Amino acid sequence: MTPRLKTFIQRSCSRVNEALEAALDAVCRTAPSDNTLLAAMRYSLLAGGKRFRPCLAYAAALATQAQVDAPVNDCNETTDKIACALELIHTYSLIHDDLPAMDDDTLRRGQATCHIAFDEATAILAGDALQSLAFEQLASIDTLPPTQVVQLISILAKAIGPAGMVLGQAIDLNATGKVLQHEQLQTMHRRKTGDLIVASVVMGARSAACDDHNILAALTTYGEHLGLAFQIQDDLLDAESDTDTLGKTSGSDQRLHKPTYTSVLGIAGARQALNEAHQNSLAAIADLGAGADLLRDFADHTINRKF
Ligand code: IPE
Ligand code: IPE
Ligand code: MG
Ligand code: MG
Ligand code: MG
Repeated sequence: MTPRLKTFIQRSCSRVNEALEAALDAVCRTAPSDNTLLAAMRYSLLAGGKRFRPCLAYAAALATQAQVDAPVNDCNETTDKIACALELIHTYSLIHDDLPAMDDDTLRRGQATCHIAFDEATAILAGDALQSLAFEQLASIDTLPPTQVVQLISILAKAIGPAGMVLGQAIDLNATGKVLQHEQLQTMHRRKTGDLIVASVVMGARSAACDDHNILAALTTYGEHLGLAFQIQDDLLDAESDTDTLGKTSGSDQRLHKPTYTSVLGIAGARQALNEAHQNSLAAIADLGAGADLLRDFADHTINRKF
């Protein structure tokens, strides 16, 4: 990881973590504080996690402003709310993904999964609550015109809904134990993981008031390839890494007979697909200039990440 990216990630993480704490504290003020639901939400949300999607939103906002050397606190409050909403959604998706009816995993972010630490019903409700809290964050943005706020809500809703992330998860569950063609596998990965990553980039750019059609199109294509690369690397890590490093149980895909890039294409084939997706993500933003260097760093980091 470049020193520039490392510093950027540290600053972005502390910024989004502060926004997440504030969002939970605001709930505390209106709900009883000894509430198990809130405890479960806090448990999963503040357990760590790379905060990849919030970081991408901050990087896209800066790329749009071409301020790569400016500290991340030059990002505005609007980007904070978007970053917070993205992580709330992502954490909800992980809590549900780990449930016995889905991937039945017991370890996440280095600790017991939400349904193990609490119970299944609480984990389902904690996921639901995180999802609605995410939309509340977006609806509370008062720094943009209402039409742009509605647009942000629409982008996120589409990305995670029945034609996006949830569809991808449904394809994943239906595909368990079956053989998929490369193209079907790519669609599954694009929906279950890619769409939220595209939304992160586009919403980050829009938080910096970007409405340039060409820039948004380039960022969308970048996000599509990056999202695919991110999930291919997740498949590779599941097959090749260990539980301690990952903070989640390695070999989970094989145990569940999931079709993955490694099971369908083999390790070498998965690595080749990963490299192609990486190259395509870089090509998509080739015209964006030095302002997009952090996004380039993110693409490089995605294919080399160890967890
Ligand atoms: C894991 O996401 C689930 C996928 C979509 C691959 P991350 O690898 O971003 O998990 P955290 O947030 O760092 O725990
Ligand atoms: C999860 O994919 C995708 C979503 C949560 C939407 P995986 O099932 O591969 O994620 P991990 O490996 O459990 O983190
Ligand atoms: Mg899954
Ligand atoms: Mg899983
Ligand atoms: Mg996985």
